[in-house]
Amino acid sequence: MNPEATPPSVAPLRQRAEEQLLRQPKSQSEFDALRLLHELQVHQVELLMQNEALQQSEAQAREALADLTELQASMEARIVERTAELAAARQAADAANRSKSSFLSNMSHELRTPMNGVLGMIDLSLLAATDARQVEWLGTARRCGVQLLAMINDILDLSKIEAGHMDLDLAAFELGSVLQLTSDLLAPQVAAAGLRFSLELPPGLATRQLMGDSHRLQQILLNLAGNAVKFTDKGGVHLAVAVVEEARDDALLRFEVTDTGIGIAPQDHVRIFASFEQADASVSRRYGGTGLGLAICKRLVALMGGEIGVRSALGAGSSFWFTARLGTRLPTSLPAAQAVDALAQLRSGFAGVRILLVEDNPVSQQVLRGLVVAAGLELDVAADGAAALARARDVDYALILMDLHMPGLGGIETTARLRSMPGRERTPVIALTASVFDQDRQRCLAAGMCQHLAKPVDPPLLYAALLRWLGRG
Ligand SMILES: Nc1ncnc2c1ncn2[C@@H]1O[C@H](COP(=O)(O)OP(=O)(O)OP(=O)(O)O)[C@@H](O)[C@H]1O
Ligand SMILES: [Mg+2]
Repeated sequence: MNPEATPPSVAPLRQRAEEQLLRQPKSQSEFDALRLLHELQVHQVELLMQNEALQQSEAQAREALADLTELQASMEARIVERTAELAAARQAADAANRSKSSFLSNMSHELRTPMNGVLGMIDLSLLAATDARQVEWLGTARRCGVQLLAMINDILDLSKIEAGHMDLDLAAFELGSVLQLTSDLLAPQVAAAGLRFSLELPPGLATRQLMGDSHRLQQILLNLAGNAVKFTDKGGVHLAVAVVEEARDDALLRFEVTDTGIGIAPQDHVRIFASFEQADASVSRRYGGTGLGLAICKRLVALMGGEIGVRSALGAGSSFWFTARLGTRLPTSLPAAQAVDALAQLRSGFAGVRILLVEDNPVSQQVLRGLVVAAGLELDVAADGAAALARARDVDYALILMDLHMPGLGGIETTARLRSMPGRERTPVIALTASVFDQDRQRCLAAGMCQHLAKPVDPPLLYAALLRWLGRG
């Protein structure tokens, strides 16, 4: 029987064989043989039918496999497509982030440059003013300018934190000095409000040296204590510090600022730590501010490995606390903390010493000339990098103050070229710039500058830096 042929159905076959058997009577052995043959035929037919069923299943399986292969191919294509879409979205987000960062650093620069002029001119006028009323007016103008600068700094800080660009700058510092400075900086506001201010510092802590970002720690303390003074009409503000936990390489410190002020309703305790949130945001509110202080504190505290919170009720004063993890392993040689009158020391020790200012902005030139001349130093001015290099070739300046953004050759490139000039490898170069992001500071140091000072120039900081680097000559 041909296995390829269509199998006849079993019943008619059986019937035909039985009819044959009945029509021709045979011997018993023939009859058995015929029956066996008949059974074999039936069995073969059954096998053929099974074979056909198997072939059908195989065809179905092949079809299913083809479907699966097609599905897999389309899924792979979709994955490739989706990956490309995600990569494009990521590129767009990165580009947006980059343009946000560069917008911020440009804005920071553009805002700081005129502020440098405003504050600088006030500082120069204060140095020259003799009339008591003028000194008072200028003092007020300066405080307003500083307040505006603080707001600019807050907005930039928050943006930096959000863009992930805020890093802590770790160095050794004395805890007592940071707290004392906080109290000194707040003293005028405390006195003006007729409040008491007290500081509670366990004996061992005052002189304790720690590793951390003292500038940012100070910023948190100033905002909390500043808020306490701002929102308290009567009574006082108390600042307490304690060690919560000592580990092998660090310690967890707890700071608490308590006031007897207006207090905060419990439902506002969480909200006030968000950006731009104030307990009273109505137009008729009595207290100034942008509502950024606590949001910045919260993020800075997180960077310091701590937590921040408040206990308060309306009319019952407030107690803001935070913890910070600070290093206790110090580098072997610490810079000696010295409170010196840098201006007086410059006048007595470095009168007539010639330094170079590289600066293109005429107002900044004027401000710095005034400050430097007031310290008894001689100042040459170059308006760009090329002019600075030409001057530095002829004169061995004791120190160079270098702006970063200038037409033509910028400050970084100018410093790099100066360093390759024979005899100028070690001339101290201080960056004096409105570019105040961490990466700007790193770029300055990498280019061989010895220090980075931010504009608007803070005269005491400028004098301390001049004294520090001239003193090494
Ligand atoms: N010591 C306090 N007593 C009462 N309310 C406070 C106190 N500290 C903060 N607040 C409330 O929390 C809000 C947010 O404080 P935050 O320091 O973030 O902003 P601000 O002081 O209003 O403005 P900025 O700090 O940006 O100048 C304040 O506006 C105030 O409503
Ligand atoms: Mg505040």
